[in-house]
Amino acid sequence: MGDWLKNAVFYEIYPQSFYDTNEDGIGDINGITAKLDYIKGLGCNAIWINPCYDSPMKDAGYDVRDYKKVASRYGTNEDLYRLFGEAHKRDMHILLDLVPGHTSEEHEWFLKSQKQDPNEFSGRYIWSTHAFWGSHDYPYIGGESERNGVYFLNFFKCQPALNYGWLNPKEDWQDGIDSPNAIATREAMKDVMRFWLDHGCDGFRVDMAASLVKNDDEEKTGTSKIWQDIRKMLDEDYPEARMVAEWSDPPRAIRAGYHMDFVLNHPGHGYSKLARDYYNHPEDNKDMDKFFTGQTGEDPCLTDHSYFRKDDGADITAFLKDYQEMYDKTKGKGYISLLTCNHDTTRPRFNMTPRELSLYYSFLFTMPGVPFMYYGDEIGMRYLNLPTKEGGYGRTGSRTPMQWKKGKNLGFSDASPSDIYLPVDWRDDAPTVEEEEKDPSSLLNTVRSVLKLRADNEDLQSDGSFESLYAKEGQRPFAYKRGGFIIVINPSGQEETVPVDASGRKVVWQIGNGQAEGSSVKAGPQSFIVFA
Ligand code: GLC
Ligand code: CA
Repeated sequence: MGDWLKNAVFYEIYPQSFYDTNEDGIGDINGITAKLDYIKGLGCNAIWINPCYDSPMKDAGYDVRDYKKVASRYGTNEDLYRLFGEAHKRDMHILLDLVPGHTSEEHEWFLKSQKQDPNEFSGRYIWSTHAFWGSHDYPYIGGESERNGVYFLNFFKCQPALNYGWLNPKEDWQDGIDSPNAIATREAMKDVMRFWLDHGCDGFRVDMAASLVKNDDEEKTGTSKIWQDIRKMLDEDYPEARMVAEWSDPPRAIRAGYHMDFVLNHPGHGYSKLARDYYNHPEDNKDMDKFFTGQTGEDPCLTDHSYFRKDDGADITAFLKDYQEMYDKTKGKGYISLLTCNHDTTRPRFNMTPRELSLYYSFLFTMPGVPFMYYGDEIGMRYLNLPTKEGGYGRTGSRTPMQWKKGKNLGFSDASPSDIYLPVDWRDDAPTVEEEEKDPSSLLNTVRSVLKLRADNEDLQSDGSFESLYAKEGQRPFAYKRGGFIIVINPSGQEETVPVDASGRKVVWQIGNGQAEGSSVKAGPQSFIVFA
């Protein structure tokens, strides 16, 4: 795979909260352009932007009203085209967020689809043929349309499901995946992708990628066929374009045509059949939960045993077992994407100290695959307890404005504090970029430094080999090999002797203390040591 993902490190931007350039209190596209050098300076050479399209914002933009128009609060399409150009000048790449499974109930397609008279869009969404009947497996809405039928939802009430067909249709109103209606939906989505790719976008993060075909089987046979078809379009017409799935099942997502897939750290919110269909991960990934944030209960919660916690962390074995299996299945075919967190999950600072975070990120950025960092995690921004905004609910606290410097709105915006999108961290010790820049041992500078190590060494990038050297049940240290490097991590508060032979090697990067001693490694408390 000779492509730009080989050394890609992504930065996720929630546009409304990143940087406001016109004093209206809402982050904008020009704000992202203005901060490209900051992002590049961090060591991130690629960006994923959450939906920035015209929308009623009942799910913060995941309810798209017009796929081809930038929401006016973020600027214009021209602003976005300019951002693509400025990114490319810096050898950076930009993924937009594609929301293929549903639109807003205000999308023109839906407004036409809900009319009783048959028209071009009658089959664009999933409708039953009776105003009182739906299906037990999926949520639906009755009594809202002119049309004599109910329509199916993909997520919130405002997000009707687009019609990609059913795997084995059972009712006469259910289309098959190769039916004219299902094909028309698929082609419409390809047209949206072409539109942005033609304007310079480098690919997509795909929302709820496993959700397209209804009544799909466990292998996601139906949904996979659709993505394989879309991948064919990319390979033929946009060979540089890349897609990352929100699927959380890398072997299946990559088989379906994705270049990479996230391993999500969703806390366990009542894994219904619906959630399983959509994200396809819950039950299987419990150990991943434990590993990243440990949040196995309500969102967010403090009863966690994340591997990186000094005092009550778990061992690495549960995570490693899952990871190794995914890695073996996907190696050479596509990438696993580990992430600090995202706009749907609790910021890791919620239950980890900056030191714990520095170990966490150092691990993340020295693993294979393509890593993602959520804006603000590089300075350890907090999760804030806030009332819901634009359908955020428990997620709102992870979506607050970026903290650039001390002073008004922490440098996010010149608008009046009462007008900004969400409040900024109000505590005196709210971390900021400006302050962390001055402190050589800050989280921000640790991130920069480990990303520089990755950038300078192909062995530590996406394709470099990975081998576990030491991982034992009930033991805290973990050692692994990346190409010619040996890495030892000890998240505990005590010095540990790790039976890994690093004799004759040099320490090239470290947090805390550690050295080779005979045929083992002495790893100090909360340490991370890279031997070359
Ligand atoms: C994805 C998005 C989330 C959104 C949902 C519905 O999970 O990440 O923010 O609410 O899909 O589109
Ligand atoms: Ca603005």
